[in-house]
Amino acid sequence: MLPPTMVEESVRIISNERATDLYFRLVVQSPRIAPLVQPGQFAHLRILPLREALLRRPFSIFRVEGYTFSILYKAVGKGTELLSRMRPDDELNAIGPLGHGFTVPPAGGEMPLLVAGGYGMAAMYLLAQRSPQRGIVFVGGRRRVDILCEDEFRALGWDVRATTEDGSHGEKGLVTQPLIAELKRGTAGRKLFACGPTPMLKAVSRIAEEFNVPAELSMDEHMCCGVGVCLTCVIPISTGDGWEYQRTCTEGPVFDSRLIAWEATA
Ligand SMILES: Cc1cc2nc3c(=O)[nH]c(=O)nc-3n(C[C@H](O)[C@H](O)[C@H](O)COP(=O)(O)OP(=O)(O)OC[C@H]3O[C@@H](n4cnc5c(N)ncnc54)[C@H](O)[C@@H]3O)c2cc1C
Ligand code: FES
Repeated sequence: MLPPTMVEESVRIISNERATDLYFRLVVQSPRIAPLVQPGQFAHLRILPLREALLRRPFSIFRVEGYTFSILYKAVGKGTELLSRMRPDDELNAIGPLGHGFTVPPAGGEMPLLVAGGYGMAAMYLLAQRSPQRGIVFVGGRRRVDILCEDEFRALGWDVRATTEDGSHGEKGLVTQPLIAELKRGTAGRKLFACGPTPMLKAVSRIAEEFNVPAELSMDEHMCCGVGVCLTCVIPISTGDGWEYQRTCTEGPVFDSRLIAWEATA
């Protein structure tokens, strides 16, 4: 039995189209999961044509519109390749919404600075949409094709600053460079929210400590069950006098950066 905050549902594909050279955008009809989604939560999808279909794949919930939700995904392996070939009216099995997401900044609270690498942008859209105040989104990738949905964040009234490692779009360099430049202008009343590859999250955590600003990080760990049973997704979390393992699928994926015991990570 799943806890009452998460639902297992057969979801019908409304559309599944290429969004960029690298990413696809899947929209599904989900009357039971979509209304429950909080920013930073994910869905665990059973891709039914996959022979080992019992193993689900986790994806951040990108957008929610009425009784639909969408994800942005990159075809990297067997599951996502098969997913990219599914068509409207095909069905998937979804469990969601899962995980502990981002804290939506309160009205009049800290100015949010979002930091995203690659598909990390997908985890941030609902936070940007539901935040009563606008801020800055720092988005980075290797090349232009890694940069996702800038215009959708701009349409919400956010200032978007892009960086690419090869300089093919935005400023050349790492996403942390414009972030540091912004924090040097002032740190009071700012809070960081980040999602992306682990080295980027580690760098954001160091920057948050150096500038003494709070940060919430969405940790990207491999997951099997997605509901707290198998313990494949654990990371070390400080307890004050040491650390303990916590599950990124249930206690996370979003954690306060000050609690992550980076020294105990692999
Ligand atoms: C909480 C969470 C949210 C996610 N959100 C998104 C999203 O919004 N969009 C998206 O494209 N992907 C997302 N992912 C990653 C996605 O789940 C994997 O890409 C997917 O499971 C790969 O399945 P596959 O069968 O195609 O690949 P597999 O054949 O299982 O693996 C192919 C390759 O992908 C790598 N891989 C598998 N899982 C992950 C992972 N968690 N992180 C990094 N590399 C991985 C494997 O190591 C391998 O190299 C998310 C992962 C987590 C944990
Ligand atoms: S994925 Fe099984 S406990 Fe987190």
